[in-house]
Amino acid sequence: MTRRTHSHSRPLGQPTRGKTALNRLRQIDVFVALAYAEVLTSGSPLVVDVGYGAQAWTTLEMLERWLPVNPRLRALGLEIDPERVAVAQPYADPPRIDFKLGGFNVIALLGDERARVIRAYNVLRQYDESEVESALTEMAQGLEIGGLLIEGTSTPSGRMVAFDLYRREADGLRHEALVFGTNFRAEIEPTDFQTILPKRLIHHMLDQTLARFFDSWQRSMHIARGNGIRSRRGRWIDAGKRLRDQFGWKIDVRGRLLERGYVVVKESLQTTKGEL
Ligand SMILES: C[S@@+](CC[C@H](N)C(=O)[O-])C[C@H]1O[C@@H](n2cnc3c(N)ncnc32)[C@H](O)[C@@H]1O
Repeated sequence: MTRRTHSHSRPLGQPTRGKTALNRLRQIDVFVALAYAEVLTSGSPLVVDVGYGAQAWTTLEMLERWLPVNPRLRALGLEIDPERVAVAQPYADPPRIDFKLGGFNVIALLGDERARVIRAYNVLRQYDESEVESALTEMAQGLEIGGLLIEGTSTPSGRMVAFDLYRREADGLRHEALVFGTNFRAEIEPTDFQTILPKRLIHHMLDQTLARFFDSWQRSMHIARGNGIRSRRGRWIDAGKRLRDQFGWKIDVRGRLLERGYVVVKESLQTTKGEL
């Protein structure tokens, strides 16, 4: 992705539905603490939640879950809807936690500071696919080198989540992983994730790479069931390992991520034009 600099101070983006829920983004918070603790403990102590919604819950919970990893962290919640910024004010306690009017151009609010993590969750799903790349590029401007950008979608309760992880590098943003998460409370099929894919993928289910991936995952799950694995967690782990060992997908199996409910794909699953 290319780098652009913007001097806008007007928040970039558009107001969208503000639905949220307590604990909706728990799986994302836990994943980052488990798999990226070193990101949270080094560099800038600022983490930003873009588009926290009608209530401040997800930003408050994010900080609460990450403070045990790094007690120096500070959180900034941004909303493009001024009423939602007003609703969150009683929970502000700067500099530890603050809520401000802002958009994808996070950098406009940071002064000389840069963020370590920027999360935009259930935000881009309400935009047009053509707006995704510029939104990501804008947000990346607010990150320090080595920082993480998280963009994804969840079910309304947060029982299932799917998100992209990007790393800010000197020359732009690099896609690092596509993560699927479940809390094992319901029986799910891999194809259930197709309705909550990140915006860049959701309209591409028929593209070769994505279709092949889901076919491999469905087959892996089918084999796990056929082998009589009784628990949801056991089938999830078995299918995740099979995705790598039998079907050759780059799955990150370190640190008990699979056991905790995460299938971490170290590929973007985007079909390149030549493959179509
Ligand atoms: C569906 S809510 C998501 C709330 C929360 N992140 C969650 O996952 O539950 C989306 C929120 O993003 C806000 N939003 C949309 N575009 C935005 C932008 N460019 N910058 C900041 N907030 C934005 C909307 O106003 C809305 O409140």
